[in-house]
Amino acid sequence: MKKVLRILKQIRNLNLGPNIEDAANESLHSKKLAIEAIEYVEAGAKSAAQPGVVINRIWAMPNRWTFKIKPIAEIVKRYVGSGVGWIDPFAGMNSPAEITNDLNPERQAIYHLHAKDFALFLGTEYNGVLFDPPYSLRQVRECYDEMGIALLSQEDTNLFPNNIKEIIAPKIREGGHALSFGWNTIGFGIGLGFKLKEILLVCHGGKHNDTIVTVEEKQVTTVNMFEGKLFNFANCFSER
Ligand SMILES: C[S@@+](CC[C@H](N)C(=O)[O-])C[C@H]1O[C@@H](n2cnc3c(N)ncnc32)[C@H](O)[C@@H]1O
Repeated sequence: MKKVLRILKQIRNLNLGPNIEDAANESLHSKKLAIEAIEYVEAGAKSAAQPGVVINRIWAMPNRWTFKIKPIAEIVKRYVGSGVGWIDPFAGMNSPAEITNDLNPERQAIYHLHAKDFALFLGTEYNGVLFDPPYSLRQVRECYDEMGIALLSQEDTNLFPNNIKEIIAPKIREGGHALSFGWNTIGFGIGLGFKLKEILLVCHGGKHNDTIVTVEEKQVTTVNMFEGKLFNFANCFSER
């Protein structure tokens, strides 16, 4: 935007003078500048092109318990409401979801299972999922250390937490939501039937990583009669 402003100021300050030849040269120059500005804006629009995705950035104090961070508590409240029909496989201490789980028996959750066992045990047609696992292998180790679990399984080392997302994704109803928390915006992704809706970047300053909230909506799918495959309408329209 600064570049566009600079170009517009240059155009405004062009001296068209009384001489016709000078004026013609100057107006040609101003046209070139205008084209440069348009191309700059269009390139920016293309690079940000994710129609309908809302991206916000805000500063807030960090907190070990994600849902205690003020702007995160607000976005969670906005989507989860009373929590009815929501699931949370990594509930920690503050989950508003109706059906909560946390491996650590000292956390506030209904179930204390490994997230994979919890995901397998769940039914179907949930309104949404809060997905706030440990954000790195190091954090997984720290959680396990707290519980006195010495060894990480190969699955936890190599596939976690995507293996849990794969089990949960089909259990969320169409139009339901997935709110993922972490250091990236991978979320559940279109491959698991979710469309990106909103991103909240929470900057904590200092040496802290941002906490990123990724909000996605489960897409409407139907069975493709010819191949018996699940067919995603959203993909169909975006490919046109
Ligand atoms: C980032 S914290 C969740 C914080 C929570 N959202 C809050 O605001 O209170 C991650 C939680 O996942 C739990 N956890 C770690 N590994 C797990 C696993 N394999 N299965 C289930 N829970 C696990 C930890 O005990 C921890 O409470």
